[in-house]
This record gives sequence, structure tokens and C-alpha cells, in this order.
Amino acid sequence: MPKTSPPNKSTASKASARNKDSGPAQPPASGSADKAVAKAAEANDLVAGMPFNSTKSAEHGFANGLAPQVGATVAPASRLPTGSTLTEENTSEKVGSVAPEGVNATIEPLDRVRVDSSKQALTTNQGVKVADNQNSLKYGVRGPALLEDFILREKITHFDHERIPERIVHARGSGAHGFFECYDAATDLTKAAPFQKAGKTTPVFARFSTVAGERGSKDTARDVRGFAVKFYTDEGNWDLVGNNMPVFFIQDAMKFPDLVHAVKPEPHNQMPQAASAHDTFWDFVSLMPESTHMLMWQMSDRAIPRSYATMQGFGVHTFRMVNEEGTSVFVKFHWTPAAGTHSLVWDEAVKISGADPDYHRRDLWERIESGAYPEYELGVQVFTEEQAEEFSFDILDATKIVPEELVPIRPLGRMVLNRNPDNFFAETEQIAFCTAHIVPGLDFSNDPLLAGRHHSYIDTQISRLGGPNFHEIPINAPVAPVHNNQRDGLHRQAIPRGRVSYEPNSLAGGCPFQAGAAQGFVSVAASLSKQDEQGKVRAKPEKFADHYTQATLFFESQSPVEQDHIANAFRFELSKVTVPAIRQRTVAMLRNASEALAAKVGKGLGMLTMPEALPRAATEVATPEIMKSPALSLLHRPGDGSLAGRKVAILVAPGVEGDFVLSAQAALLEHGVVARIVGPHIGHIPTVSGDALDADASMENEPGFLFDALILADGAEAVAALSQDGHTMEFIRDQFRHCKPILCVGVARHLMRQAGLPISMDKSMAQGGTGLIVVDAGEGDGSLDAFMAAMQKHRHFGREMDPPLL
Ligand code: HEM
Repeated sequence: MPKTSPPNKSTASKASARNKDSGPAQPPASGSADKAVAKAAEANDLVAGMPFNSTKSAEHGFANGLAPQVGATVAPASRLPTGSTLTEENTSEKVGSVAPEGVNATIEPLDRVRVDSSKQALTTNQGVKVADNQNSLKYGVRGPALLEDFILREKITHFDHERIPERIVHARGSGAHGFFECYDAATDLTKAAPFQKAGKTTPVFARFSTVAGERGSKDTARDVRGFAVKFYTDEGNWDLVGNNMPVFFIQDAMKFPDLVHAVKPEPHNQMPQAASAHDTFWDFVSLMPESTHMLMWQMSDRAIPRSYATMQGFGVHTFRMVNEEGTSVFVKFHWTPAAGTHSLVWDEAVKISGADPDYHRRDLWERIESGAYPEYELGVQVFTEEQAEEFSFDILDATKIVPEELVPIRPLGRMVLNRNPDNFFAETEQIAFCTAHIVPGLDFSNDPLLAGRHHSYIDTQISRLGGPNFHEIPINAPVAPVHNNQRDGLHRQAIPRGRVSYEPNSLAGGCPFQAGAAQGFVSVAASLSKQDEQGKVRAKPEKFADHYTQATLFFESQSPVEQDHIANAFRFELSKVTVPAIRQRTVAMLRNASEALAAKVGKGLGMLTMPEALPRAATEVATPEIMKSPALSLLHRPGDGSLAGRKVAILVAPGVEGDFVLSAQAALLEHGVVARIVGPHIGHIPTVSGDALDADASMENEPGFLFDALILADGAEAVAALSQDGHTMEFIRDQFRHCKPILCVGVARHLMRQAGLPISMDKSMAQGGTGLIVVDAGEGDGSLDAFMAAMQKHRHFGREMDPPLL
């Protein structure tokens, strides 16, 4: 018989600490030099330190809703009991070392994932250097390709899966990094991190987009522009997911899929791309009269901005700000561009979409690369619940604005976009915004459209970005620490240490613990007393039925030129409708907003008799506080007068006055203007003095409508050559038709005459504020200031004609 020793506690502990499927009756010996035993003992002590859930009882009741408590924690004796494995100190080049305490490394600056391949050899995704990237593996030089070729198969497989689904809406977009800078602390309004200190900066990424078109569609479609900003605040990500128009087509998220189905290309033939000018859109909106106000905005020049840098942005819905004391106010967010609000004209937008479908993307990229950083001021309209009750409209209705004359905008800070992405896909395509991403100090109103959006964005991103872990894609990761018990799912990046993924727990000392009211997000306990009487219901508030008052306000607040453009846009869009009854119904709807507008549109559509006005949903509406709001006109915000980022063409041909061309180019460049030398061809252009210019654009590759202004330089031989080229006439006519400044020197006036411009070429006549500056030979340099002053006005609508003469 073998001899047995009596049981020994240390041996028993050692044995049981190595046993992972059943436990001992007694706690293991403490102070053991054996790590497994020490871990088991410390784990027992840690758990024993939390004999019961001490916060459980206070979880109940209304008070907890207002001020949730901090979760219970117990500090472990060392890091041993909370680790996943005893072997975590066995380090290597790959595993690194033990996770630093309390750190989630996935939120480190983007440098952790940047890749620069200079001086590096080509490898596979497994890091194997590729000797030959030209030939697949074959049996013999002419032989069949072999399945064994893992290098070819890896490359092709990855390529096959490079595309991901595009966004269901706002698929076409462009973005940039930048910062938000707080002007003065706004602690009276909010405890949100970006607004706590004067001068505080918060990193941001902004993405601008069109709504209807596909990812590769044109930038200059008539459409709403998305204006989405992700603030990487120290208290988590805040996404302000707005548009460049402050209202929306619908009032309830229930109608969003219908709206989008109606505006997207028609399903039977997938036409038209990136356009609302077709039957299904107008069929839908003319049956949804709440869209009338938004249609005014969409038919205005707001829908064809000159640049992302020259459009406003709006949060659209009413939000809340909450201060440290828990006092909440309603707010509406406004972004105002420092460069002013400037738009294209329709004829120009149509032509640009052919010559440069990337017009806005290119403009944003080039502005940032050249240091002309787009800048916007963020402001809020602030009002109380009591004030809101008194308004003639419902602040939960996304088809209504709060006029600025009723509640002025309080500036909070500025956003500057100063860095282009390194990689479009990794950053701009993979960024994921959501209205539900807010931080302490902000909250929502009960707008039913907003509520639907909270669900929609994350839901769609789960399929667009391939699973629930897209928050770990570097561009989406916050700079604030992330610690929670969410685990697993496709493409998980984080490697959590320890075995605990639930709360409450004692095995991890209670961590990560509930933050409590002082640090954590607490929803405003908004009173629902009125709704209490009504109970659950699918319905709308009565004031939502006023579909026209603010549509009228918008139209009446526009300048005559803007009103004409709105009428022309309705005329164009409805002329593309193939079913006359849809057209009739739309004009019938417009009659409720503006008889003058409806009459003009009806005439433009060749209607012999006007349709009866649509019956109104609301028989009585409250008297509006404001009958005209100058702030709604694009002309209200001319901007800071800077010309940075604008483009000027200096038209040249052999024999041009080269000295003037170069001095004009230098003077414009000094103001941040991109002045390009445009010739009949690119490259060598001899000048009158025997020197040469190097044209960097041609009339063929950069037509006139791509420029904000034109200079026609002097030089008899050059003018003679240009007069023989049909492009020249188109170039000048487009500049004229689109009301852009033209500086014409010396004999170049022959070109303007030949183009048929309906103006006198007399020097004194042409300078009268028309944006046409005609000067004699040798006076070009002296007229550059006047030319730049004309550029500050951007467009000179005094010469606009409908239909255009040229
Ligand atoms: C006030 C009304 C709305 C505004 C201002 C707005 C704004 C935006 C913006 C700016 C984007 C592009 C975000 C980006 O650049 O990635 C976007 C995308 C999107 N919006 Fe809206 N939207 C509105 C209404 C809605 C509604 C009512 C829904 C649905 C109920 C919705 C669903 C979506 C979806 C699914 C995306 C694509 C998101 C993605 O794939 O990443 N939107 N919206």
C-alpha cells in the first residue's frame, strides 16, 4: 500500500487554485507565494468586501431619476484578482505588456493607426514580403494559374470586398477635421464640456453631403445639404447632425422612408439621379402640405450653395441645454459661415455638374490645403418652456423655425476646419453620426422626428459598417475613456482584461462602476402632465396643422431676386413632372403660401387656368409674431468680405500682355484668391514682350462657369486669337449670365462685344455697379482693387434676365 500524508492547507489551496471547474469550501490561504493561490485569495477578499448590493435600495423612486447614485466599488489588494490570466506578465512584441490600469487604448489619437509606407517593401496582409507583384503563380510560363497562389487570392479577395453599402441617404459627402473654440464660458446655459471655458478647444470632424444622390453623384444637385459635426469632447462624443436648412419636409419619422422613396430615383427605371425634379417626389410632397415651408427653402438658392464654406448649418430640431444646477432651457443650433452665405445660380449648377461633379468636394479640399480654412460660428437661440408655450407655432414641429427676430442668436464659439483627412474611406466614409450621441449638459426635446432619428442612424450603421462595433473604427472612437461591459460582435478590436463583463459585480471590485449624477448623463425629467391625461396615442398636436404661415414668411422675407429664383426653380422642377395633375396639385398648394408665387409658377408652366387652392388642414391659425424676417435672406449674411478660396480665370492667348497677367495673379493670390491662367491650351503661351506664361488650365478643361470672376487681359494678337475660338464666347457669356465680375482691359473689350454682352463698352458706363469693369490699355493694375471690391459682392444680379439674353 502506498503511504499517504495528512492533508496540508497550502497544498489544497494550490490544487484548488489550479482547478477551474469547482471550488473549495474554505477560502484559500492568503499571502501565498504561489500566484494562483494569491489570486484566488485576493479574489475572495475582493468579493467579500461587497457582501451585498449596497446601492440596490436607492435605485427606486423618482429621486433616483433626477440624481442617480455612483455605483459601489471595492479596491482590490493588487491587480491580480481582476486580471484575465496569470500569464499577463509574459510579454512579447505582439502582446505587449499588462494593460495599463484604467486605460482603453482604442481611443488613443489616430496616430496609432496611421500607416506610412515610405522606404517599406510591399507585403501581404500577413506581413510576408511580396517578391513579385506583377505575375500570378502559373504552372510554366504559359501554363494555367494555380489555386495555390495565396498572394493573388488574398489581393483579389480583399479587392472584391472593398466596397461597403453606401449611406441610404446623404451618400455623397465630404469631410474635414478641425476644432471648435469656445468664446466665453456658457455655464449659465449648459455643463456640456465644449462650453465650459473661454478659449477651450474641442476636436471636431465635419461631413457635408447631399441627401438624394448616390455616392458618386454630382455635388451641385438641387438638394438639401447635410451639415454633420462630431465633437470629440472630454466627456464623450457629441454629434450635431444638421442640415443647411433649418426645417424639414415631414413632422414625424414615420414618414421618412416614404419621403426618401419618393425623392430617390424612381424604382422602375432608376432615374433621375440626384434630382427631385420627377413625378414621385412632387406626387408625395403635394399630398403632404406640411412640406410647403421646406419646399420654399429647397427651391431657393440655398439648395445650390457655392461652397460648403458659404452655407449655414442648423440643428433643425429643438434641443435642450442643461446647466450644473439641472436647469434646462430649449435651444436651436445655428452655424453661420464667416465667408457669408453665397450660392450658385441654377444654370451654373447644371453646367458645373457636367464639368466638375466634385465641385464642392474639390472646393473644400483646396480651401483647406491652401490655408483658407472654412470657419463657422456656432450660436443658439435660447428660450424657456413657458416662452415656447406662447409661440404661435409648436417648437416640436420640424417644419417650423423660431424666427431670429423673435429669439436672437447667442454666439457660443467658432469651428475652424483645418485638416483634410489622410484617407477618404477610413475617415469620411466610415464616420458614423447619430443624433442620439449627446453629452451631459445637452438633451432632446420631444420632437417626434428627432426620436425616430435616434433609432435610425445606429440601426443603419450596423449594416453599413458591418456589425455593432463601428464605434471602435478609429474615426468614430471618442477621446473620452470608454469602459463598459459590451462585448464581442463582428470585428471587435478592444481586448478587455479580466473575466467580468456585467454590473453589478464584486469580482472586479464593482468596476466599471455606475458614474452617478455628478459625472454621468442624466436625462431631464421633463413634465409629461398634459400627455398623462391623453395616454398612448398615434396623433399630432393641433398646431402642426398650420402648413403655410411660415412658408409665406420665408417667401415674403426674400429679396426680389431670390423670389424670382424660387419661382424659376418651381417652374423647372414641375416642368419635369410628366403627370399634369401632380403639377396642378402643387400649384394649388402654393396658392396657400403665396398667390404671387403660385401665379408666376402657373404662368411659367403654361397653365391656362389656375387650380383651386388646396383645402387647408387648419381652419384657424394663430397670428404669427413676425411677418417678415430679413435674416432668412441669403443676402443678409454677406460675410467678412474675405476673397480667400474664390477662383478667378485670367484668359490668355499668344501675344497677351504678360506683365499684367502676372501682376494681377500675384495681387489676387495675396488675398487668398486662386487665380488661374487659362489659355486655348495648357502650357507655353508667348507674351507680347517675348516672355512666356505657363497656362495651368484651358478653356476646354476648365470652362468659364467654374470660376467666380474673369479677367480679360489686353494684347491685340491674343484678342485676335481668342476671337477665333468659340470657347471664348461661351466663357464670357457664362460669366456674364451668372452675374460674375469681369475685368476687361484695353482691346479685350472686342471680345465682350463679340460675345454680344448687352452693355456699353464705354469705360464710364460699364463701371456703375454692374460688376463689369472695362478699362483702357495700361489701366489694368490700377483697376484690380475695384475688381476685388466687385468680387466681394460675389454676384451682380442687376444684370440678370429671365429668360437670359445670352
Ligand atoms: C431634421 C431632419 C434630418 C436631418 C437634419 C438629417 C441630417 C442627416 C445628415 C447630415 C446625415 C449625413 C450624416 C453623415 O454625414 O454621415 C444623415 C444621414 C442619415 N439620416 Fe438623416 N436627417 C434628418 C432626418 C432623418 C430622419 C427622420 C431619418 C430617419 C428616421 C434619418 C435617417 C438618416 C439615415 C439612416 C442616415 C444615414 C446614416 C449613415 O448611414 O451613416 N434622417 N441625416
